Amino acid sequence: MEDYNFMGSDSKSKTICAIISLVSLVTTILIGISFGSVEPTEYGILYNTITKKIDEKNILTGGLQYLGVPNKIITFPRVNKQIEFSDQKAADAPALSTRTKEGLELKLHFSFQYLLQKDQLVNLYRLVGTDYNQLYTRIASDVILANAGNYHATEYWQKRSEVGNQLEKALNVKLQEAFANCTGLMLLKIDLPDSYEDAIVDTQLVNQQRLTQEKVKSINLILAGIEVDNSVANQNISIINAEAQYNATIYSNNINAKMIKNTVTKQAEAYTQAKKDLQFDNSKNLLDFVYYLNIMNLDKKKENNKLIIGVDNPRVTLQEVGKGYNFAPSALV
Ligand SMILES: *[C@@H]1O[C@H](CO)[C@@H](O)[C@H](O)[C@H]1NC(C)=O
Ligand SMILES: *[C@@H]1O[C@H](CO)[C@@H](O)[C@H](O)[C@H]1NC(C)=O
Ligand SMILES: *[C@@H]1O[C@H](CO)[C@@H](O)[C@H](O)[C@H]1NC(C)=O
Repeated sequence: MEDYNFMGSDSKSKTICAIISLVSLVTTILIGISFGSVEPTEYGILYNTITKKIDEKNILTGGLQYLGVPNKIITFPRVNKQIEFSDQKAADAPALSTRTKEGLELKLHFSFQYLLQKDQLVNLYRLVGTDYNQLYTRIASDVILANAGNYHATEYWQKRSEVGNQLEKALNVKLQEAFANCTGLMLLKIDLPDSYEDAIVDTQLVNQQRLTQEKVKSINLILAGIEVDNSVANQNISIINAEAQYNATIYSNNINAKMIKNTVTKQAEAYTQAKKDLQFDNSKNLLDFVYYLNIMNLDKKKENNKLIIGVDNPRVTLQEVGKGYNFAPSALV
């Protein structure tokens, strides 16, 4: 009774308050640690901190989760992660030094992406816990070093993306054995010995120059072809001209021939008519007539022509200035 009195009614209610507060606090804490959240970019596995076992049945995928008091969440990335081998500060590992197929020094800078296999997360956790990034870095190093020597320096230079694709396939095989998919690989930089790189650049330059020269050559060929065409065309024109000239000559010759023929025919007709009109009894008379006609024509044309008729042995003297013609036609003898 004394005790009861000692505590008094005030302190009694204080104690009850304190107990209620404590219970609420503990409850809040317990509820707090009984829930956990998984980001949308993550997977989660439940881990019992007392039994040290993981919940193999449920893979958590985002949102607030009730875990139960002794459990905590181990998260894994649900998106592509990248590992880089290079001389950059942020790189996960240094560039890999190896040799090409012909034995040239080679330094490969590359990066690759991986995606964890959701249904293998438990196996992955059993294998390496959460040290998968180191695991994949080591696997990549092994795979690239084992395969980089399959290619000649020229292949790295000329078939870069093909080599990259083949290395990616090889890496994917090994990553899948470690519960991840390789979703990409990129050769960032290929370091070959300087002398070799210079040689390649020179080769490229020479190739370029060769191509340029071939272009120039074919252009010249085309120009030469045009030249040849021109000369053939010119030849053709000459031939056509020559033919036209020939045709023209034949034509005009034909016309001349026709004209001459016409004249002769007309003259013959006229003389025949004259022979008839003048009643010459033979051709000799006609020829004499023509002869006199011509003489008369001459006389008309030239002032100094003289006609002498009426002598025993009649002669016709055609007198031009400075020239004299004596003619004794048989007709008059
Ligand atoms: C990994 O690759 C396999 C076979 O190509 C495919 O079936 C699986 O869906 C891929 N997983 C992921 C997470 O991409
Ligand atoms: C030249 O003439 C020949 C035959 O007449 C012909 O086949 C050719 O096409 C001509 N060439 C040109 C360039 O006119
Ligand atoms: C020349 O004459 C021949 C025959 O009449 C003809 O076929 C040809 O086309 C002519 N040539 C020219 C250039 O006029």
